Amino acid sequence: MIPVPVEVDPSQPLDPAAFERALASDAQIVGIAAVHLETSTSILNPVREIAAVAHKHNLLCLIDAVASLAGTDLRMDEWGIDVCTSASQKGLGGVPGLAIVAVGPRGWERIVNQAERPRSWYLDLRRWQWYAENWGDWHPFPVTMPTSVVLALRAALQSLLKEGLEARFKHYNVLAARLRNGLKSMGFTLFADESLMAPVLTAVNCPPGSTSEQIGRYLETEHNIKITTGFGPYKNTVIRIGHMGGAINEADIDGLLAGLAEWNKVLQR
Ligand SMILES: Cc1ncc(COP(=O)(O)O)c(C=O)c1O
Repeated sequence: MIPVPVEVDPSQPLDPAAFERALASDAQIVGIAAVHLETSTSILNPVREIAAVAHKHNLLCLIDAVASLAGTDLRMDEWGIDVCTSASQKGLGGVPGLAIVAVGPRGWERIVNQAERPRSWYLDLRRWQWYAENWGDWHPFPVTMPTSVVLALRAALQSLLKEGLEARFKHYNVLAARLRNGLKSMGFTLFADESLMAPVLTAVNCPPGSTSEQIGRYLETEHNIKITTGFGPYKNTVIRIGHMGGAINEADIDGLLAGLAEWNKVLQR
């Protein structure tokens, strides 16, 4: 399979019209794949509109919701997403180790009817279905699952459901506003327009005179806070702050802001 990239200015979300243009220029395209929350920039992409383009052309729509699931609204069936992938460790708040894959009816039809089976035994979803159907009462998976990771995910999901998804979303919105207002009041600038950003992640431009690596090291050694650098061309000039998962709270945001305020003072020395 040869991917046809649909590119965008990194400070902007994907443009559904750009997918239309790509489809018009290549009749062999069989589906559209897009990321919901672009982790390198904190920008949320309009996957509902992108899925609508796919459906208009009778193509499948595959969405990477690794960073967005349970962090912001995502409606697989209502928005017409055919295959949605995520992971246990981000918005769901478990630990790393599980890939979560949801397949809708159109996606499943395609999987069942395709002549060639995947070359990977492990990644063949039909095999996973066979075990669920035939060994369901004692071992519904083709492999031994990492039990501790599954139990951690279950605990995270139980706490998410107890809190309620809407309440969790509201909490994230409050934390994002607290963080971003605090950053702006200290003179930091956000990587993209705030209205484009997901509520669980904030990409911030480094102040002149400091690199992302310096800021990250300072926060880690002086405040025991771990953030990450920018990605690709923004590796040195952007820091990324994750604020997702059930454990994050106002005190974490304030601790980070206090650390960055201190960093500003270090810079002025
Ligand atoms: C949007 C997005 N997709 C995919 C991945 C890869 O996920 P994993 O590291 O669980 O394979 C990441 C990881 O950071 C991500 O942010």
